[in-house]
Amino acid sequence: MIKMEQMNKIYRPHSNPVHALRDVSLHIEIGDFVAVMGPSGSGKSTLMNVMGCLDTPSSGAYWLGGVEVSSMNSDQLATVRNRKIGFVFQNYNLLPRMTALRNVELPMLYAGVEKEERKARALDCIDRVGMLDRIHHRPSELSGGQCQRIAIARALVNNPDIILADEPTGNLDSITSMEIMNIFRSLHQEHTTIVLVTHEEDIAAFARRVVHFRDGQLIKDEILNPPLTEPVKGGEDI
Ligand SMILES: Nc1ncnc2c1ncn2[C@@H]1O[C@H](COP(=O)(O)OP(=O)(O)OP(=O)(O)O)[C@@H](O)[C@H]1O
Ligand SMILES: [Mg+2]
Repeated sequence: MIKMEQMNKIYRPHSNPVHALRDVSLHIEIGDFVAVMGPSGSGKSTLMNVMGCLDTPSSGAYWLGGVEVSSMNSDQLATVRNRKIGFVFQNYNLLPRMTALRNVELPMLYAGVEKEERKARALDCIDRVGMLDRIHHRPSELSGGQCQRIAIARALVNNPDIILADEPTGNLDSITSMEIMNIFRSLHQEHTTIVLVTHEEDIAAFARRVVHFRDGQLIKDEILNPPLTEPVKGGEDI
């Protein structure tokens, strides 16, 4: 699914360069659940931005689903982002004037999905995160955990190959964090590929694999949980 080889990212290469990623080689299989850990400034968000085609590496290669994306132009990257990647951010990034339903419909609008189907797919994804009773609420009328559920629904609507989440529980209390992590766990059980940045050990514990960064380098790659064999049914959040 994801194959990065000897990837480097240097911000501001011509004045005060910051070497944010150093020779990072990372392979992620379809259906895996990977947590990214490391101190502040170690390159985690930079990695996610490159992985999510929001930014390009300075050198090295990046294949996403067998396609070389490291040399694509910005229009091509935007298409890849919209079709293949679902993003979840720490601060939810919902549009404040739009209802939950409209927020979830938005990526489908960019993808050119018809109105009826947009609504049907949005409602289905909102149902998966247990938020059908809040579809007409605006973000300011929702709790943080509810906003994050809506953001996850939005990330799911275009059936992405991969979900990228940068500290999705960073603004949430511990109980709400566990509820959100149960949603990610269920998505993993449905074979969605997930890469999630966190500072917390108990959040990383939901993943199958944890990669640790320091000073832009991948310093440790550990398997926490055995790979899934059969999808686990019932008893989950979604
Ligand atoms: N747009 C940018 N321009 C210049 N330097 C940047 C830029 N974005 C990040 N950096 C630098 O790159 C390094 C890695 O930053 P990054 O945001 O990837 O760290 P992080 O591991 O996500 O940290 P945190 O845990 O605080 O979110 C840092 O030294 C940061 O200052
Ligand atoms: Mg970060």
